[in-house]
Amino acid sequence: MVHTKLFIGIDLGTSAVKLSLVDEKGAILKEVSREYPLYFPQPGWSEQDPADWWKGCFFGMKELLADVDASLVEGIGCGGQMHGLVVLDEDDTVIRRAILWNDGRTQAEVDYLNNEIGKSKLSKLTANIAFAGFTAPKILWMRKNEPENFARIKKIMLPKDYINYRLTGVHCCDYSDASGMLLLDVQHKCWSKKMLEICGVTEEQMPRLFESYQVVGTLSPDVAEGLGLSPCVRVVAGAGDNAAAAVGTGVVGEGGCNISLGTSGTLFISSKNFGVDPNNALHAFAHADGGYHLMGCMLSAASCNKWLCDEVLKTTDYAGEQKDITEDKLGRNHVFFLPYLMGERSPINDVNARGTFVGMTMDTTRSDLVQAVLEGVAFAIRDSFEVAKSLGLNIPRSMVCGGGAKSPLWRTIFANVLGIPLDMVKTEQGPGYGGAILAMVGCGLYPSVQAAADALVELASTTFPDPELTARYEAQYQKFRKIYPALKSVFPEIQ
Ligand code: XUL
Repeated sequence: MVHTKLFIGIDLGTSAVKLSLVDEKGAILKEVSREYPLYFPQPGWSEQDPADWWKGCFFGMKELLADVDASLVEGIGCGGQMHGLVVLDEDDTVIRRAILWNDGRTQAEVDYLNNEIGKSKLSKLTANIAFAGFTAPKILWMRKNEPENFARIKKIMLPKDYINYRLTGVHCCDYSDASGMLLLDVQHKCWSKKMLEICGVTEEQMPRLFESYQVVGTLSPDVAEGLGLSPCVRVVAGAGDNAAAAVGTGVVGEGGCNISLGTSGTLFISSKNFGVDPNNALHAFAHADGGYHLMGCMLSAASCNKWLCDEVLKTTDYAGEQKDITEDKLGRNHVFFLPYLMGERSPINDVNARGTFVGMTMDTTRSDLVQAVLEGVAFAIRDSFEVAKSLGLNIPRSMVCGGGAKSPLWRTIFANVLGIPLDMVKTEQGPGYGGAILAMVGCGLYPSVQAAADALVELASTTFPDPELTARYEAQYQKFRKIYPALKSVFPEIQ
C-alpha cells in the first residue's frame, strides 16, 4: 500500500512509552515500546525522571521511523499519564523528579484543601475536590517540604506537556489533562485565579491552554534533525491518557463509556455538556473532543495482576496463570482481594487503604489468588460504576481497552461483574491511537474529533454477560463491598 501521510501517536504511560505509527486511513503500521524506571522513594510515593520519558520518546521515535519514509510524517499527538507534577527552572531545566498520579504523600495538603478551603469551594472553582494524586496538593507539598525547589519554579506542567515542550519548545497543556491539576476552572476552561493564589503560583508559571486537537507548534529544528523529520511536522496539544484512550476507542460526544485497564483502572463517561457529580466521587473533567467527561479512577488495576505475577509468583506468563480458572469457578471464589496496592482514589479516596487478601483456607490454590485479583479489580471498577448509576447515568455497554483487556478471561469477569456487554476495538493501543487521531484532526484531515473517530475506529469483538454468571457475581460483589468498610480503621495503624 502506498502511504501519503503518516502520524505518530505517543502513549506516555507509567511503565513505558508506547509509540504507534499510523497512516492516514488509521492503520497502525508499526509499534515501539520503551520502558523506564519508576521510583518509590518511600512507601506510597511514586516518581519518574522526565529525562527518561524524553529519552524513551526520542529513541523510540527513531526506532519507529527506521525503514519508513519519514518525509511523510505530518503530525504527532500524545496521550500521557495525568496529574504528575513537572517543574522547570528559568533555564527550562527539570528541578526534581516528577511526582506521579499514584503518589500518596500529600494527605496533609489534601486535608487542608478539602477541609479548610472546603470541598464546596473547590468544587465551585474547579468542578472537583482534592485527591492525593492531583497536582495542586503536590505544589503545596513542595512549597512546604522543598522550599528551595519551590522558589526556583518558572514553569509547571504535566508529563506529556514536557514531551511537547521538548518537541516544540512551547509550554502548553490541553484542557483534559489540565482538568486533573485542581487549578483549572473546568467549566469555563481557564486557570482558576483563586486556586493559583491558594497554591502560591502565578498564571505566568502555568502553560498556555489549548484544545487537545489544536496545533501547539512545529518541531524544533534540532529535534527534527535528530529524528530525520521535517521541521514542519505539527504537534498537537494531546490529552490526558484517559481522554486520549476514549478518543482511540471512539468514546466521544454524548454518553459513551470506556473502561481502561492499564496500570490504573478508569471508568470514563463522555458528555457534550459540562456536569459535576454533586458528591465529587467521580472527577468532572474536560474531554479531548471539546466536550466533557466524568471519570472514576482506581490507582492499581492491571498493575495488581502484574504485581502478583512478577513479584509474588515470579512469572511473566500471565496467560498461563489464568489457564486453571475455568468457567465453572467464576463467581464462586472464596478468596477476595482489595486492590488498593497504592491506596485508592475513586470512589473511596483513601491513601491509607492497602492491598488485602481475605478468605483463604488450606485448600486455597495459586489460581484462586490470581482469580481473586482479577475479580477484585473488576469489583473496584463496579464501585465507580455504581456511583455513575446513582447519578442517573445510563451505561448500557462499554468499550474496554488497555493491557488488562487483552485477557479474554478478565473481559468475561468484567462483563459479568458489571452486567453489560464490553466492546473492544481493532486498535487496542488506546491513548497512542487517540493521540494519532488528534494529530490527524490538527493537521486538517478531519473537521472534528467526532468525525475522525467515526471514520477510523472499528469494533473488533464484544464480550456479553451471561445472566446466571452475572447473578453469581452480584452476590460476590455484595460480599466484596463489606470488606473495605470493615478494615478501613485498621489500615492507618499498619502503615
Ligand atoms: C487518572 C489517573 C490515571 C493516570 C494513569 O485520573 O490518575 O489514569 O492518568 O496514567
